[in-house]
Amino acid sequence: MVERRTVLQVSGVLAVGGVLAACGGGAGSEPSGAAAGVASDAAGSSGEGAAIASVGDVPVGGGVVNDEVAIVVTQPSDGSIKAFTAVCPHQGCLVSEVVDNEIICPCHDSRFSAVDGAVLQGPATEGLAAASVVVQGDSIVLA
Ligand code: FES
Repeated sequence: MVERRTVLQVSGVLAVGGVLAACGGGAGSEPSGAAAGVASDAAGSSGEGAAIASVGDVPVGGGVVNDEVAIVVTQPSDGSIKAFTAVCPHQGCLVSEVVDNEIICPCHDSRFSAVDGAVLQGPATEGLAAASVVVQGDSIVLA
C-alpha cells in the first residue's frame, strides 16, 4: 500500500512536471516572439515616443497605415515625411493604403492628398487632420 501511494505520488509529480514542461515550452515560444516584437519596437524608437513607422518602409508616393495609433504616414516626395489621422472623416473607417500620393478609404472610396490630407474625391467633405511626427534616424515618432 505504501509503495503504491509512493508510486502514485511520483507519477502525479511527473504528470504535473510534464504539464509544466509542456506549458513552459509553449509559453517559452510565445514570449520570445513577443520579445522580438518589443525588441523591434525598442530598436525602432530612439526617443520617448514609440516609432509608428520606419522611413525605409514608407515609399515615395505611398505610405504606411499604423492601425494601432490610427495614423497614416506618407512620403509625397523624397525625404518629405507627412502624417495624418487615418480615421476617415466621412464615417470613421480607417484609410487602408496610399497609392500615387492618394490616401484611400476603402469604405466608400474617398481619397485624400498625401501632401496635405485634403479631400481629392468624396463622399468625404473634410480632409484628414495632420498629425505631428518627427523623424529620428530611420524612425518616425509621434511628436
Ligand atoms: Fe471613408 Fe466613407 S468612411 S469614405
